[in-house]
Amino acid sequence: MADTFDVSELWDPTVRRNPHEFYDRVRAAGRPVLQVDPAGNRLWVVAGHADVLTGLRHPAIGHEVHRHCPVTHQPALNPQDEVARIETRQLINLDPPDHTRLRGLVSGGFTARAVARLEPWITALADRLVANARRLGRIDGVADLADPVPVNVIAELVGVPEPDRWQFRAWSAAIVSASPDGPTATVEFAAYLDDLAARRRADPADDLMSELVALEDQAERLDRDELVALVQLLLIAGQETTVDLIVNGIRLLLTHPPQWQALREQPALAAAVVEETLRFRGPVEIVPPRFAFRDIEIGGGRIPAYDRVGLSLWGANRDPTVFDRPHEFDIHRADVGKHIAFGYGIHFCLGAHLARLESRIMFERIAQQLPDLRLAVDPRDVDAFRLHRNELPLQV
Ligand code: HEM
Repeated sequence: MADTFDVSELWDPTVRRNPHEFYDRVRAAGRPVLQVDPAGNRLWVVAGHADVLTGLRHPAIGHEVHRHCPVTHQPALNPQDEVARIETRQLINLDPPDHTRLRGLVSGGFTARAVARLEPWITALADRLVANARRLGRIDGVADLADPVPVNVIAELVGVPEPDRWQFRAWSAAIVSASPDGPTATVEFAAYLDDLAARRRADPADDLMSELVALEDQAERLDRDELVALVQLLLIAGQETTVDLIVNGIRLLLTHPPQWQALREQPALAAAVVEETLRFRGPVEIVPPRFAFRDIEIGGGRIPAYDRVGLSLWGANRDPTVFDRPHEFDIHRADVGKHIAFGYGIHFCLGAHLARLESRIMFERIAQQLPDLRLAVDPRDVDAFRLHRNELPLQV
């Protein structure tokens, strides 16, 4: 029966091979579906487009549950625990008013106009990568095309000198993969950022770190942990996500030959490729879980107070009441603008303009300069849901 769910389905390897079937069933059930993760945390999955939007702007759904719950779930923060201190100050884990204050400090640097200034710089980087791919002949789409783009772009914006960039790429990877090295990477990364901040304090440059250091001096606006947390988040949030978008865009084009052909004939379609890739196979499956601050009614059911809410962007972006033929990849579709792959509301992705610009330039340059690009493996051997951590063998 469609309405029956095992509580650990979301983590089941069979479901992982095609999570969209699971989200179709959640939507059809017409209520949030309870799942329990391997650590025993309860998560109510919401997958309809309208319901996910409601969840993303719901005043009683948020992160700082300890402010609402009489018996706090969280142990008191140990001030010596730097990793926990930084984590709790991440923009993405905060509610207003701290969220509003911190986001306001950096949002100006990420508007469409602010990031458009980077277009020539990103184009030159894309040209170098594409020229290198032509020389190599056989390449890995992850390592040789996608991976170097976001790390270099955000480092340029923040002001991280080129020789140091490989190191913080490794720190981001350790933190994102939740490996045992994650906490050490957070602390080393923080020490590096302290040092960079000190250098910019002594000798300001035209970069984001210099701007933030200037704000830090006005102590009520930004403290040291917040500065480190903010810069770490910027460096991490855009890395795996943008790599995933570029790599999946390439994979989807090469496995849909008429659409690859259309892009080669008309590179201006690159922006449409970006949007349809975001809708069809966006990098974020479920936004970082929030809590219900009280009992709430949502999506035809009830979520009890203090339980976790899992708002599924993959579910929303394949909702048949919003998208025509939702399970088809179609760069010509008219309804693509309704996707919510960058989230919605106060946490809407800060780097959305930047990610769109980077991936659009990459798709344009690849279509123009690598017209014979093709998969060097059987498409069935490419795991579409873990791609950014694996390889994408390509023949140029
Ligand atoms: C294709 C690439 C990307 C995708 C799909 C993506 C997706 C998202 C999503 C869904 C959220 C909302 C999370 C939530 O509601 O809890 C988010 C937040 C965020 N993203 Fe992105 N992101 C991408 C690239 C970037 C880049 C390049 C940056 C670098 C500046 C970035 C920085 C952030 C930050 C700082 C937040 C937190 C915003 C807040 O809490 O107010 N993202 N992103």
